Amino acid sequence: MRQEKWALLDAIAARRTKVGVVGLGYVGLPLSMAFGNAGFRVLGLDIDARKVEAIEKGECYFRHLDAASLAWLAGEGRLIASQDFQRAAELDCVVICVPTPLTRQREPDMSFIVETARALAPHVRPGQLFVLESTTWPGTTEEIVRPILESGGLKAGVDFHLAFSPEREDPGVHASTSVPKLVGGLSPDCLELACALYATVVPRVVPLSSTRAAEMAKLLENIFRAVNIALVNELKMLCDRMGLDVWEIIDAAATKGFGFMAFQPGPGLGGHCIPIDPFYLTWKAREFELQTRFIELAGEINTQMPRYVVHRTQEALNARERALRGARVLVLGVAYKKDVDDLRESPALRVIELLMEGGAEVRYHDPHIAQLGQTREHSFDLSSVPLDEAAFEWADVVMILTDHSDVDYGAVVRGAKLIVDTRNATRGLGGTEHVVRA
Ligand SMILES: NC(=O)c1ccc[n+]([C@@H]2O[C@H](COP(=O)([O-])OP(=O)(O)OC[C@H]3O[C@@H](n4cnc5c(N)ncnc54)[C@H](O)[C@@H]3O)[C@@H](O)[C@H]2O)c1
Repeated sequence: MRQEKWALLDAIAARRTKVGVVGLGYVGLPLSMAFGNAGFRVLGLDIDARKVEAIEKGECYFRHLDAASLAWLAGEGRLIASQDFQRAAELDCVVICVPTPLTRQREPDMSFIVETARALAPHVRPGQLFVLESTTWPGTTEEIVRPILESGGLKAGVDFHLAFSPEREDPGVHASTSVPKLVGGLSPDCLELACALYATVVPRVVPLSSTRAAEMAKLLENIFRAVNIALVNELKMLCDRMGLDVWEIIDAAATKGFGFMAFQPGPGLGGHCIPIDPFYLTWKAREFELQTRFIELAGEINTQMPRYVVHRTQEALNARERALRGARVLVLGVAYKKDVDDLRESPALRVIELLMEGGAEVRYHDPHIAQLGQTREHSFDLSSVPLDEAAFEWADVVMILTDHSDVDYGAVVRGAKLIVDTRNATRGLGGTEHVVRA
């Protein structure tokens, strides 16, 4: 084993290693490209035929990634993709980036990790390195992945290597290759190998004492965000009642320069991580007879925000002697955060649903999302309308839910009859008497 470790370390240094990435989504595709650009031959494995075909053709399916770089990697044969897990036997290092959503009962859905480990298990061979990247509860690598990979008889930490290294990228904002990488290994050798692999693509690798520690650190990061966003959302509701502008208060507190980090309130939590990951820990904590009350409370407050901003819209209409029923609402921005085309868990979807349930007629504009159709939990049939005079003329109220950069908020303020701004996108603009911050 020690000899195999040195051989793999040498091979990584010389880029002779063949790297496999399982799951070619938001995390796996950029990571595959990073390994390809670092000089490795990369095989992406995915069950989604469309993604595999796209990569085979050198086509990039994420707008925020460098399409020319992907086309080049595919053209050179440096990045290939397949649905055939038998090919896992060719790989020296395998990085797993499959989804970790919640079930309908809001419990961790481990099925993707389990299926992946089962598909890889028959092809495990001595000396290979496996790294789980999916965000998950502490203990997953050892309690779920390890026994499945060991089912063929080889032992993790003895015959093959196993590690956990969470993905910390913020798609479109912070690329995975610019953020230090946390790594926890099952054994010191597992840790050393995984660190060596990632050191080829990130500026800094941070070794941790165990896979559990690395799993927990990733959850802490996301729980920290969820709790702090809930805090400012709660204070926003109080500030509204007290006649204070929460954004002014946050900006003021941030001038301290230390001991305070500014978080921004909004219409609720969105994205694939922050609304979901904290509940992985809540679930695991029960095994230890502990209730993660901060997480639960943050979840409660954040989930209530879409209802709150709809209520504020209703109040704003009411003040103009209009009911929500029959009102025409133009929703501005439906992506879960600014400048992305990602709808996952977007609070805008719940807001639109609540508006419709209340009898409002809804249209939307989002420069990044042309259609709103069927999602896992919602069923819409809407297309983005142009943000022009006719749209403003049509709308009784414009609700700003996502503050995309390429929207002219001055024109919105000038054109709209009434605005409910949940992102403070109209900050600093003149003539905002008809803007209600919510
Ligand atoms: N998206 C992010 O910004 C982000 C950031 C940090 C961490 N994460 C975590 O990374 C993990 C992956 O997230 P993502 O956003 O890339 O998900 P994604 O849905 O974009 O991609 C997952 C990919 O895995 C594939 N897949 C599913 N089951 C498979 C299987 N059995 N075998 C092979 N492929 C399979 C899917 O077809 C899909 O292409 C999750 O745990 C997530 O929480 C995501």
